[in-house]
Amino acid sequence: MKTIIEPFRIKSVEPIRMTTREERARLLEAAGFNLFKLHSDDVIIDLLTDSGTSAMSAAQWGAVMTGDESYAGAPSFYRFEAAVKDLMDFTHIIPAHQGRAAEHLLFSLIAKTGDLIPSNTHFDTTRGNIEAMGAEALDLPIAEGRVPSLDHPFKGNMDLAALERVLTEEGGRIPAVMMTITNNAGGGQPVSLENIRGAARLAKAHGKAFYIDGCRFAENAWFIKLREEGQKDRSIKEIVRETFALADGMTMSAKKDAFANIGGWLALNNDALAERARTLLIQTEGFPTYGGLAGRDLDAIAQGLKEIIDEDYLRYRVRTNAYIAERLDAMGVPVVKPAGGHAVFIDARAFLPHIPPLEYPGQALTCAMYETGGIRACEIGTVMFGRKPDGTEAPGAMDLVRLAMPRRVYTQSHADYVVEVLEDVAATKDTLKGLRIVKEPPMMRHFTAAFERL
Ligand code: F0G
Repeated sequence: MKTIIEPFRIKSVEPIRMTTREERARLLEAAGFNLFKLHSDDVIIDLLTDSGTSAMSAAQWGAVMTGDESYAGAPSFYRFEAAVKDLMDFTHIIPAHQGRAAEHLLFSLIAKTGDLIPSNTHFDTTRGNIEAMGAEALDLPIAEGRVPSLDHPFKGNMDLAALERVLTEEGGRIPAVMMTITNNAGGGQPVSLENIRGAARLAKAHGKAFYIDGCRFAENAWFIKLREEGQKDRSIKEIVRETFALADGMTMSAKKDAFANIGGWLALNNDALAERARTLLIQTEGFPTYGGLAGRDLDAIAQGLKEIIDEDYLRYRVRTNAYIAERLDAMGVPVVKPAGGHAVFIDARAFLPHIPPLEYPGQALTCAMYETGGIRACEIGTVMFGRKPDGTEAPGAMDLVRLAMPRRVYTQSHADYVVEVLEDVAATKDTLKGLRIVKEPPMMRHFTAAFERL
């Protein structure tokens, strides 16, 4: 059959509250033109994030009921640990309440003032945790990864020549090399196995640890299977296992590729580092067999990890985004090519050339999408990355708007609706205005900043 259908049927539903355009215009103004401040029941299609928004399966809800809430040594922990090790065979699996908690543990222990941590592209919480230690988070994506309109099978790859150069020139400042799969901030783009091998090899040659931020590991493995030479006959599990065997540890948000609503982990092979991490975990998150989670959350993750590597699911998952991206492209809305694993990214800088980066074209587009059709998307551009640690402001590398797809939540007609709303926005795009920030916190301003329309 030609149509790739949702490989599930729906047993339990949540109603969507419909709103009018007038109502949304009022709500948007009251939210200071920051969509993070909206109440989610005022949103029709919520594409703010794919994080923690998955629909859990009947088997996951069943596992929730068998969760054991003992403080220490709960069987839920051992099921969780076994499920993680089945895919990522690290010596120590340390649960945490979400990805950024795992990052906080890792960088509190391995980074200090003046250090430098290279990556293909750090996600914003990773960057925040590194900078909070006084260290520098350095992005080294391949050149193709910075050009939204350019098609490339592994746009998330790291520039290995640049990595080798910094390792040689700045090695004394570098405690570890990091790789984010898929590269979220760079457009949800995959990293090839060859590139992961190359980065691991360089890190090892310079005596540095190599860590993977594995949030969307299953989507990354699917792209490797589809696009990388010699990989098409391997199972997703084999590809995932090889990926993580190349690393000394990983950070993970189970809110992405584990179908869980909360959770994460830090995994390590280094015994001494793991002991220090567990000590810090007890201080900040909880005992090492629950790490800030309920036993039932650990069971939901254990089951989710079994489901996420299903090829029918991954085929449908990636196809939904590709479908939206193709239709947007056909009507002249500039999208990051090819479509990413968890999201479609619109190039707002190219779509709204009359709005300069420091008037936030991405934010202007998210506001227009909400006002027009009740869609909530997320700016990934100058609002998110424009404020530098020294207090100055500069345009982000790109001004993207991310339409992130919650896993197993929306259907084909929801996807068609998203396309229609953008068709409507495109028809009057020249009338859209930029914004000015009227209030912002010192860090991670995109979550709480308030704006005014110019
Ligand atoms: N790393 C990557 C690549 C991420 O995308 C995220 C979260 C994290 C780490 C942090 O994990 O949220 O569990 O603390 N990304 C979400 C998003 C918030 O919308 O992309 P967390």
